[in-house]
Amino acid sequence: MADGPDDLLGENPTFDTSVAHQARVYDYWLGGKDNYAADRKAGDAVSEVYPGIVAAVRAQRAFLGRAVRYLVAEAGIRQFLDIGTGIPTSPNVHEVAQSLARECRVVYVDNDPIVLTHARALLTSGPHGATDYIDADFHDTGMILREAARTLDGCVKLIWPHRSTLIWPRPGLVLAVV
Ligand SMILES: C[S@@+](CC[C@H](N)C(=O)[O-])C[C@H]1O[C@@H](n2cnc3c(N)ncnc32)[C@H](O)[C@@H]1O
Repeated sequence: MADGPDDLLGENPTFDTSVAHQARVYDYWLGGKDNYAADRKAGDAVSEVYPGIVAAVRAQRAFLGRAVRYLVAEAGIRQFLDIGTGIPTSPNVHEVAQSLARECRVVYVDNDPIVLTHARALLTSGPHGATDYIDADFHDTGMILREAARTLDGCVKLIWPHRSTLIWPRPGLVLAVV
């Protein structure tokens, strides 16, 4: 494996790649290539105390794909707001969605600059749909709504009865997997 995503980050990455990073460790567990030695070392250390971690993250990623597939093919959903995107690992939400309905639009939201760097480079839409990326904390629902409206129709805000706030692009769907 190459020692990291130098092609995306340039010869002098602005990120400290000697320190393990959550999103890159997750990428390592998924079998991605956007991780460094420190990330792999940390990922292996977790696997030693929790041997099921790799199977668990791969199972949840597979679930994400199945859920999107169902929502497009069976439920007719064409818009997705994916909060907590993670480093892109194919097949990503828009790839699954647009493989079934090429007009699907997906807005990705994450608050991690490493994720956003990769997302801007890799999460590109087919010509008939659209993708966008928002650098935001999921608590900042007003900003997410405003920026998502560039790409998604009918964004409205629902207040959850207790303390969380959900953002709901209609007739789309929120994927909040953080
Ligand atoms: C475990 S990854 C999820 C990856 C992907 N959704 C998947 O299902 O494979 C969690 C992601 O949530 C992001 N995240 C964590 N806290 C967040 C917050 N407060 N606002 C936005 N994103 C957040 C992290 O940066 C990370 O990329």
